Formats: sequence, structure tokens, C-alpha cells
Amino acid sequence: MVIVQNYDFDQVTDRNGTASIKWDEADRLFGGEHLIPLWVADMDFQVPAEITEALSNRIQHAIYGYTSASEDYYQIVKQWMAHRHQWAIKKEWICHSPGVVTALNLIVDGFTCEGDKVLIQSPVYPPFAKSALNQNRELVTNPLINDNGVYRMDFVDLEHKLSNSKVSLMILCSPHNPVGRVWTKRELAKVAELANKYDVLVVADEIHHDLVFEGHHHTPYALISEEASDHSIICTAPSKTFNLAGLQISNIIIPNSSLRRKYLKQVRRFGLGEPNTLGVTAAEAAYRFGESWLDQCLTYIKKNANFVTNFLKKNLPDLKMTPIEGTYLGWIDCRKLGWDKLRLQQFLIKEAGLALNQGYAFGTDGEGFVRINLACPQSLLKEAMNQLQSAFQHHL
Ligand SMILES: Cc1ncc(COP(=O)(O)O)c(C=O)c1O
Repeated sequence: MVIVQNYDFDQVTDRNGTASIKWDEADRLFGGEHLIPLWVADMDFQVPAEITEALSNRIQHAIYGYTSASEDYYQIVKQWMAHRHQWAIKKEWICHSPGVVTALNLIVDGFTCEGDKVLIQSPVYPPFAKSALNQNRELVTNPLINDNGVYRMDFVDLEHKLSNSKVSLMILCSPHNPVGRVWTKRELAKVAELANKYDVLVVADEIHHDLVFEGHHHTPYALISEEASDHSIICTAPSKTFNLAGLQISNIIIPNSSLRRKYLKQVRRFGLGEPNTLGVTAAEAAYRFGESWLDQCLTYIKKNANFVTNFLKKNLPDLKMTPIEGTYLGWIDCRKLGWDKLRLQQFLIKEAGLALNQGYAFGTDGEGFVRINLACPQSLLKEAMNQLQSAFQHHL
């Protein structure tokens, strides 16, 4: 008989004083005092005990030299992809990067030339734009359409922009941060059709691939077609799924051998070839033992999303949560308030005491929105919502 352990996501763990960017840096970065930090994509849940145990065992060894990923590591990553995502990958496709943002920068630098243009779908995770601008590439945006609160892609505009011969790379966010969409197979097939038609390399940032709620299904971009698989780089990591970002480990999956050689050349060029010793240990344990934790975590996050949605609907109807299909990031539409971005930002920090990501950081079409991190004990979200409500009461 398999005994399923129940995890307690209500448990509050004090993270202050652990050099946590989310907690220890919030007041300084936002310019407030005692802010409730619901910003950067970092969860406040303890990882399953098997990860802590594996790390403790590795630490006890007391030698931490250069590390490579073991055969077991590759096998468990392959198993995870096959089991969770029905994607049969080969060991040699799995390349390393300390993080997905590093990989995006390496890819823009190595796969495009000055004068090339990089396409992103805004509003989107800010490092996408930066990875292009850092390398002096021109940015082209294909804004998502907000259809009465539900986001979809604008394929007419996408085709128009991809048809520009200077656009050589598209960074796809799938599932999408911050709008919470889990793109359907049909939507991804349309992207692939257009990218292939205009010979554009697709970098699919699938770091949120495991964070998908019931009723939705994530399709790895490379599974869309052979052409898509052959002309794409898929960025994955255990770091969002199991909150291991501080351990710096991600898996960049590249089926095409010449794209892979080019990527690995970039990795070596910047001396990023060896994975973090503890990152490898934690990732292996997470993929081996973490599935039930993840399933329960997703149920908990969905409850949190429902809580915030219903709270706003009932108490602050001018703020509206975008329906969330995946990720643990809520995208709240505040445009009904009619405030400009600075007024909204100051109100949230100074009057409501909340550190939330401002929508305009995700592109101009994110103005009037804020992003809230839902991966925390519900008691913290309750406190945050109460503070928000009383700030509005005082304000009025
Ligand atoms: C879409 C997306 N890509 C990448 C990252 C960060 O990845 P890493 O920490 O591996 O650089 C995040 C973090 O929030 C993200 O949302």
C-alpha cells in the first residue's frame, strides 16, 4: 500500500534574516516599511523532506569541488519529462545553465547578430526584453490581446512581425508569466506554423511547465511537430516547480544537434559548464520524490487564487483577477481605478503596505495591472487583502 504524505502548506516559516531577496530586500527595493512581500516568483513553502535530506547528506561529505550531472540525474530528468509532459527526450539533448535568464542571454548573444530583431509577447517577464536589449538587439513586441479579461495571441500581428526578415528569434513564454495562460496545443501549433514559415528560431521558456491547474494541459513546444522540435530551444528548470532558485540549476533542452553545439559553445565561452553541486543534488531528489508534494502544492495555490479572486469580487470590485490557468502569479487588473502607474504604486506601498510587481515593468501594455505571488500560506494573503481593503477605506 502506498502511503501518501500530506504536506502542510499553511505552515508559516519565518524567512526574515535568511538573505531572502523576497523578504529581506523588499522594504529597501520598494521604498516602504514592513511590506508584505508578494512580488518575485519565489514560494514561501518548505520543500519536501527528501530534498532537505539529500542536501544534508551531500553537505556531510564536506568536499564541494567541481561537479557534473550524474547518469542518475539525466535519467530522472528524462523520466520527469516523459511522465509529466509525455515528452520523450534524449540524454544528450539536456544542456546546462545556472538559470533560464542566463540561458536567454546566452542564446540571444550566440544565435542572433547585431541588427537582428527579437520578438516577445507583452506583457511578459521583464528579463525577456532585457536579454535582447543587453545584447543591443532590437526588440519587437507582439502584444497579447486582452479579450474581456482573457488573454490570447494576436496571430495577424505575429505573422506581420515574423515576416520581417530581421526578426530571427522569438522568445515564447509557455505557460505565460504574468498573464497565467497555459497555451493550448492549437495556439502553439499556430506559433510553430508561423515561426517555421518565416524561419524564426523559437526559444520556449517553459520554466512554469509543472505549474498548471486541473483542466489545463501544458504542451512542450517541441512536441508540436518535428519542425518545431528541430528549430527550438526549450528552457526548463526544477527551480519554479520546487522553489530551488537559490541553487542555480536549469535544464536547457535542445533536440537539434547543430543548435546544441552552438549553445554549448556559448556555455563554455562564459565558463558556465559545471552545474552547482547542491543544485544537482536538490534537482535529482525533487524529480525523484517531489511529485506528490507538487500536486498538493498546486491544489493549495489554486485555492489561494480562488480566495484572492473572490475577495476582490466581493470587497474591491474595481480590482479584477485575470483567470489563472497556470503559474503561481496572479495578474490583477486595476485600470478601473483610473489611476496612473505611479499613483497605484505609491498607494500599494505607502498605504496598503504591499510589495507587488507593478504591471508596467512587464511592458507598457501591463500598465494599470499588478502581479501578486500566490505561493504562500493563505494567512499571509488574508493579511494582505485586509490591508488592501482598509487602505481603500482610509483613502475614501
Ligand atoms: C518566465 C520565467 N523565466 C525565467 C525565470 C527565472 O529563471 P532563472 O531563475 O532560472 O533565471 C522566471 C522567474 O520568475 C520566469 O517567470
